[in-house]
Amino acid sequence: MQIIKSVTEMQQWVASVRGADETISFVPTMGFLHQGHVSLLAEGQRRGDKLVLSIFVNPTQFGPGEDLEDYPRDLQQDSQLAEQAGVDVIFAPEAKQMYPNGYATYVDVEGITQTLCGASRPGHFRGVCTVVSKLFNIIQPQLAIFGNKDFQQLAVIKRMTQDLNMPVEILGLPIFREPDGLAMSSRNVYLTEDQRLQALVLSQSLIKARELVAAGQKDAAEIILQLKTAINQQPAARIDYLQICHQLTLKDQLEVAGNSVLLLAVYIGNTRLIDNGFLMD
Ligand code: PAF
Repeated sequence: MQIIKSVTEMQQWVASVRGADETISFVPTMGFLHQGHVSLLAEGQRRGDKLVLSIFVNPTQFGPGEDLEDYPRDLQQDSQLAEQAGVDVIFAPEAKQMYPNGYATYVDVEGITQTLCGASRPGHFRGVCTVVSKLFNIIQPQLAIFGNKDFQQLAVIKRMTQDLNMPVEILGLPIFREPDGLAMSSRNVYLTEDQRLQALVLSQSLIKARELVAAGQKDAAEIILQLKTAINQQPAARIDYLQICHQLTLKDQLEVAGNSVLLLAVYIGNTRLIDNGFLMD
């Protein structure tokens, strides 16, 4: 396995692979890998001749006061996991490689970026779309794999690739959870022991919502009220958003239907966690 830090070297490697008519699967990440990432890599390994993992804590998707500086990093541990997962190349550029002096081009998806995480993190998806476009241009994968935990991110990236005619298949894979239900996230390491317990309120909200729906409750406002009441009982919890939306448009729904997804972002202490799930089988 190679670790490549320069864009030019990465492009040379890609040219050699494409010259040999081999396909590239790509898993973009910000590193500090967990089993969720490993499940994406396993699928990538299965689906392509070559597997590329990018590790880049992308400054343009962090807002002022967010955790860009503190975001956990461990390239050594990530390299071990990547090697075990069959990665051929880790692309781990410095910020200067991706955004050299004079950099001035950004990719903005309209509409679905305005709600949910887009509303509470202005500019976030512009940063995500810009870096993902750049990575796609550099790595030229046939397949790119993302986790469903970032449900809105996946929808935005699908929109972007379709709108910009990017020749890459976008695949979303199921959320990977700890045995007690907490969705895996590199940010979970910020949680104290007590906060870690309180963080279970996110996955428990999904279970509770599904139970309510199965018992016949279809009124989205009523379900949201009950979930918010339960979350607010956790002293460290502060709701950023909790919405029941159409899975494709991400517009709020009044009535739960087969296409309804519950999306929530909750601060536990200073750590912002997200989770989501469908409400009907
Ligand atoms: O989901 C992430 O880890 C990031 O948003 C991504 C897609 C790697 C872009 O920086």
